[in-house]
Amino acid sequence: MDLSTRYMGLQLTNPLVASASPLNTDIGNVRRLEDAGAAAIVLPSLFEEQIAEEAARQEHLTSVVEESFAEALSYFPESAEYRVGPEQYLDLVARAGEAVDIPVIGSLNGTTSEGWISYARLIEEAGAKGLELNIYFIPADIAMSGREVEKRYIEIVKAVRATVKIPVAVKLSPYFSSIGHMAKAVEKAGANALVLFNRFYQPDLDLAMLKVLPDLKLSSPDEIRLPLLWLAVLSGRMKASLAATTGVATADEVLKYLLAGADVVMSTSALLRHGVGYMATLLSGLEAWLEVREFRSIDEVRGLMSQQRVENPQAFERANYIRILQGYETTHA
Ligand SMILES: Cc1cc2nc3c(=O)[nH]c(=O)nc-3n(C[C@H](O)[C@H](O)[C@H](O)COP(=O)(O)O)c2cc1C
Repeated sequence: MDLSTRYMGLQLTNPLVASASPLNTDIGNVRRLEDAGAAAIVLPSLFEEQIAEEAARQEHLTSVVEESFAEALSYFPESAEYRVGPEQYLDLVARAGEAVDIPVIGSLNGTTSEGWISYARLIEEAGAKGLELNIYFIPADIAMSGREVEKRYIEIVKAVRATVKIPVAVKLSPYFSSIGHMAKAVEKAGANALVLFNRFYQPDLDLAMLKVLPDLKLSSPDEIRLPLLWLAVLSGRMKASLAATTGVATADEVLKYLLAGADVVMSTSALLRHGVGYMATLLSGLEAWLEVREFRSIDEVRGLMSQQRVENPQAFERANYIRILQGYETTHA
């Protein structure tokens, strides 16, 4: 059985990838994920805020030095080569890369195309085989148009593309009025892969305390529907690779994503629930299904049920409420 697949120019032994999460900050987990069959690992994101905070702290330190001991400045390197920022992250990239043979992908999370972009190069230099960009931007300013939001994404992707040579993936938001058009624009800006979708944090309200609740819910398998739809629509129409993220609970979701057209399928919630060893269960479930149906490779399965290849492409576009309701009436008559 040939489970191999290509993702953002990387040759992977199978399509299962551990998505960005704090689980992957632990080198023991990184090794265990490789042992359990993960074909690549995305490290948790380095956040623009972390970089900005550290830069501000360093700037303050430098200005204090400047005011008090002008001669001491000679001990400071030029600001361009001055390594401000979360050294630990770069250290993690280096250590994870040394610990395993599978590709380790760094992740940057931000919303502007300013200072933090330089970290893309530092992550590359630390040994990452690829970089995932999580552009976590909620346009809470209601004066901002959709066009401006899109422009911001494109500028960030272009800036990062110009900074690194390693492949770049963009974890895309599902909230664009034309996902396909945006996907193409991101590809044109230089993305080698799209990760569908970024799961934006949506806070709840605490009715007793009248507070905004900052809780994060793990995903459920129902949530695959939105990425599944767009993977099916984009499959066969993009040069960039396609990754699926959200809602993988069992090998069934992995298979659905592959059939829709994903090159790789990512998992975090399931690994948080069951432990990183659960990757092996997903992998064996995938293999078992393929074997029973006598598929010999992932290539035979990928995109088999994409919009371009199913008998009724309209099934991905029209709601068919009437038919659904008729079916409901028959079963409940
Ligand atoms: C606790 C936790 C931390 C996460 N941290 C990051 C992160 O740092 N960067 C990122 O891009 N995504 C992060 N994610 C999102 C996951 O990578 C993934 O896209 C999302 O959880 C959906 O996949 P799942 O249904 O398999 O959990 C995080 C998710 C969880 C649950």
